[in-house]
Amino acid sequence: MQQDIITVVDFGSKKLSATVAAKGKEDLEILCVKSCKSIGIEKGLLTDIKKCKEVVINLLQEVEGTANSEIKSLAIGISSSKVRISETTISIMLKEEKVTSGDIKRALKKAHETITISSDESIVDALINFYMLDGNVIHKDILNWKGKKLELNLTLVIAKTKEIEKYYELFKETKYNIEFIKLNILAGKQIFLNEKNSIGHVALADIGAGIVDVVLFNNGIPKNIDCVQIGGNNITNDLAICGEFSFLEADNMKKIYSSNYKALYNDTSIPDEIEVGTIKVSRKLFYEVTNARIEEILNHINIKLKNTGHYDRICSIILYGDGVGYFEDINETVHKIFKMKNKVIKRTDLGIKNSENITSLAIAKEVYDRLNLLEDKIIVLTNKSNENKKKSKMENLHNIEDENHILRKVKGFFDKLF
Ligand SMILES: Nc1ncnc2c1ncn2[C@@H]1O[C@H](COP(=O)(O)OP(=O)(O)OP(=O)(O)O)[C@@H](O)[C@H]1O
Ligand SMILES: [Mg+2]
Repeated sequence: MQQDIITVVDFGSKKLSATVAAKGKEDLEILCVKSCKSIGIEKGLLTDIKKCKEVVINLLQEVEGTANSEIKSLAIGISSSKVRISETTISIMLKEEKVTSGDIKRALKKAHETITISSDESIVDALINFYMLDGNVIHKDILNWKGKKLELNLTLVIAKTKEIEKYYELFKETKYNIEFIKLNILAGKQIFLNEKNSIGHVALADIGAGIVDVVLFNNGIPKNIDCVQIGGNNITNDLAICGEFSFLEADNMKKIYSSNYKALYNDTSIPDEIEVGTIKVSRKLFYEVTNARIEEILNHINIKLKNTGHYDRICSIILYGDGVGYFEDINETVHKIFKMKNKVIKRTDLGIKNSENITSLAIAKEVYDRLNLLEDKIIVLTNKSNENKKKSKMENLHNIEDENHILRKVKGFFDKLF
């Protein structure tokens, strides 16, 4: 039995998230989505290969079991730390006077060969923004169009080789093989941008545990990426230091009170100290420390946007990731800082149980589109019987119906919003 399987691992500072998907009749079918605590990733960079390897392999084995498919090829999602982008246009003459997958592969190869990068850098991805066929702009579905000259407008993702090698080192001597390297923040486009809301300058900011990744799109084309090495871990650290708690105690406390920390602060009828298990914290201290850090994180994002030189042209910003999204009245704080239209994405907006898998889902969609375009197949052999496979697939699809509809759902949501 052969099947096209796409497996994605998002390497987060707090969690690893894996999505296993297959090519469905019309679209991508999600077979399994799972996350676990990450180890060895700090501020978006892989710092302890050995420890990280253990948790990644464990997670992959688990999803292999649930998806009932053998995984070999992987797409990995990484932060934008030590990564830059560069836009370029490549032109080729069509051999058969119609566009084929082979032509697109040839153009992508040419891009790799012609762009100048430093000796310590590698091109890890090339995103196709749009095509020009004999001078006419075409956004998608280019295959089989007739023409003579094809141009590709590309965004090349260029990373420090040293950082990327660590991921290859992690999978060395395992059966897994890195097939695609994707920038988490650029994959955000799959979820949050549609034809309508991507007109003009739109920013996305993914606020995680250790890092905030920021991208500015113009008409759907990424123009700037940047990051701030700050996130939810800093809120936890501040609470731990000010209240003299361990990191774990503080993180726990943060998660318990984030949804009503403001209401608690304003409630004069209760004692100043709130309790979590055996530890106590002043609700005033909790509020003030947390709020100060949230504002600082948001201000840093604002500065990064100002640094792009396009600040006044930015129509809207969408903030996601779990770093600040759970806090009560976060929208108010965001409104205070960002003058353009803004929206903080929450679990409830996404209509899924677990927002932490959003990026690995988005990458699965991106890889699926690329495989379709290049007519490439990731063939995975499995020794399980067809019958078992069918049954398990049905069960999985039933369980994660939410995730299967997520892209459509979220895009519909944004149609209404902007
Ligand atoms: N209920 C909650 N209330 C407050 N904070 C929360 C809650 N749940 C998760 N967080 C925080 O969200 C952060 C994790 O966010 P996310 O999963 O987006 O990060 P990540 O992708 O692992 O890390 P990064 O992208 O920075 O490498 C942590 O700091 C965690 O404490
Ligand atoms: Mg993340």
